[in-house]
Amino acid sequence: MPPKTPAQKLLAWYDMHARVLPWRARKGERADPYRVWLSEIMLQQTTVQVVAGYYRKFLERWPTVRHLAKAPLDDVLAAWAGLGYYARARNLHKTAQAVAGELGGRFPDSFEGLRALPGIGEYTAGAIASIAFDLPHAAMDANAERVVARLFAVTQPLAKVKTRIRALGQSLVPAKRAGDFAQAMMDLGSAICTPRRPACMSCPLFEDCEARKQGIQETLPVKGEKAVRPLKRGAAFVVRDRSGAVLLVKRPEQGLLGGMMQPPLGPWAEDFPSRAEAMKQAPFAADWKKRVGIVRHGFTHFELEIEVYAAQVSKRPKFEGKWVSDLANAALPTVMRKIVAAAE
Ligand code: ADE
Repeated sequence: MPPKTPAQKLLAWYDMHARVLPWRARKGERADPYRVWLSEIMLQQTTVQVVAGYYRKFLERWPTVRHLAKAPLDDVLAAWAGLGYYARARNLHKTAQAVAGELGGRFPDSFEGLRALPGIGEYTAGAIASIAFDLPHAAMDANAERVVARLFAVTQPLAKVKTRIRALGQSLVPAKRAGDFAQAMMDLGSAICTPRRPACMSCPLFEDCEARKQGIQETLPVKGEKAVRPLKRGAAFVVRDRSGAVLLVKRPEQGLLGGMMQPPLGPWAEDFPSRAEAMKQAPFAADWKKRVGIVRHGFTHFELEIEVYAAQVSKRPKFEGKWVSDLANAALPTVMRKIVAAAE
């Protein structure tokens, strides 16, 4: 008997230990490309736990790609609210329209075809190609990169060797069960080959792992210096009418949180505006009361701090915006929800 390959060992482990996740096909079932795609887009920057609820909600509301393509973008953005990285929702909608339209309702069954769609990069194209179509592609997310960096003891900083790590990952992909292999890598990275204190004693690749042999697994992968995120500050204006409806405005379609809703906000600068400056930024004159404390939120490229001014009006003043009562179903990103909550 030839020795088992790492892929064979990993697949045997997966058969015993695979996580049950709402988007995974059960054994013997074929994966639905729509479901695989939807879950992979949601999982791009978000944890499995958070995604599960959103995934179910989306599927219930838009059971096929044609349903999603027909939905107004604003409905999709509102349903996405809280998941973050809203460009994903905009691209999701674009891709749904391309698939339901030009592509006749079918997702492309090739890596290149998938890669050409909005919001689908190397990783996601590999994940869908393998999981939905069993094509022999690797899906190299951060988990898989960590596993591969350790397996081959790659000691250079990750940013410098991404291409090499991807090629090494691809070299492991078996001709059959590529989808299970991709998901096995994810599960191994999440359960065993964790960033800190990996559980090497339970690892099916114990004997294959170069980093483990050298005792350097916990130091890999080597990350570069983290960039310091600049700090921006500003004021928000949360106003309710007598019925409790909150005034919201829509952000520009392009750029940060594009197309999402928010209470009126002043510009962001190095410092908070003084009270006098804030009153000039306010949407209209009212009895604005500054709330104690600040709202903090981390974005990818900067940190935001917001002081919240709250007011109550008996009559809605003239202002370009929407008075919203059903905040739960509004397209309010998490940071804006925090701001509204801070006004209470
Ligand atoms: N992370 C990204 N894609 C995943 C998947 N299909 N299963 C589990 N975790 C994931």
